[in-house]
Amino acid sequence: MASSETEAQVQAHYGSPQLYEVIFNALQAAGKDMNALTPRDLAPVDQFHSGGWRSTLALAQMAGISAQDEVLDVGGGIGGPARYIAAELGCKADVLDLSAEFCEAGEQLTALLNMSDKVRFKNGSALEIPYPDAHFDVVVTQHSTMNIPHKETLYSEIARVLKPGGRLAMHEFMAGATPDGMIFPVPWARSAEISDLRVPEHILDYLHSIGLKDIVWHDVTSDTLASFKNQMSEIAGAGPLGLQIVIPDIQLMIKNLFANLQAGRVRVILAVLKRE
Ligand SMILES: C[S@@+](CC[C@H](N)C(=O)[O-])C[C@H]1O[C@@H](n2cnc3c(N)ncnc32)[C@H](O)[C@@H]1O
Repeated sequence: MASSETEAQVQAHYGSPQLYEVIFNALQAAGKDMNALTPRDLAPVDQFHSGGWRSTLALAQMAGISAQDEVLDVGGGIGGPARYIAAELGCKADVLDLSAEFCEAGEQLTALLNMSDKVRFKNGSALEIPYPDAHFDVVVTQHSTMNIPHKETLYSEIARVLKPGGRLAMHEFMAGATPDGMIFPVPWARSAEISDLRVPEHILDYLHSIGLKDIVWHDVTSDTLASFKNQMSEIAGAGPLGLQIVIPDIQLMIKNLFANLQAGRVRVILAVLKRE
C-alpha cells in the first residue's frame, strides 16, 4: 500500500494491468516451450536494467552469492533478477517491490517456472522493509533507488536487515557532475517529480557512516552507454518478446537516458559493500 503521495505516483508509473497474460502470450508467440521455460527465456522481458541478465549475473558473482545465502532483491520488479540468481547460483531470493501489479505478475511467472520454493514476493516499500533485523546474507538493488527521495532511510533499512558480514550489491543510477536539464521520460520517471538522484560521493559517505564498507565501487557509466547501444538494437529486433511489451515507450526512454548519460547528468555505479 502507498505510504506517501510519491509512492502512489511511483506505483502508477510502473503499474501495468494483465502483465502476466501479456508476457505469457508473448512467450507463446515467440515459440517457447511453455512446459520447459527457463529464466533465460524470460530475460528479454523481466530484467528492467541495463545489461539484462548478464549484469544480474555479474553483480551476483561480484557479491559472492552462494547456494547457502538468503538474498533480498529490493525493488526487484517482476522478479527476473531474483529468478536468474536463484537458478544460476542455487540460493533463495525474496523480492520486495512497491508495485502490487509487478508482485502479482512476478508470483505467477515464478510459478510458471516451478520456482515458487526458491523465489518469494512481498509487496511493500524499501523505506519500511518488512523483514526482521539481521535477516539476509545479501541485499541487491538494481536500478531500484532512482524514485526514492529518502536515501538515508532506504540505506539504513537495508543495513538493518543485513546480517553482520552481509553484503549490499548495487547497480544504480546516480547524479552526474552536471545534473541539470535532465531529459524525460527516462525508464524510471516521466517527469522530475518522481526522480531523485544523488551524487555517488554522498551515497558512499552515508553508507560508511552506517557501517557499510565498500569492497567494490566502480563507475561503469561508459560500459552502460555501450550496453544501451546493444539493448536498443535488441529491443528493435526482439519480435514478440522485449521490454516494449511491458513499457511501450521504452525505446524513447532509453534514448533519453543515453543522452543524459552522455551529457554527464547521470552516472552508473556498480558496488559491493559489507556490513561490519
Ligand atoms: C527499473 S525497475 C527495476 C526492477 C528490477 N530491479 C530489475 O532490474 O528488473 C525499478 C523498480 O523499483 C521499484 N521501486 C521503486 N520505488 C520503490 C520503493 N520505495 N520500494 C520498493 N520498490 C520500489 C519499482 O516498483 C520497480 O519495480
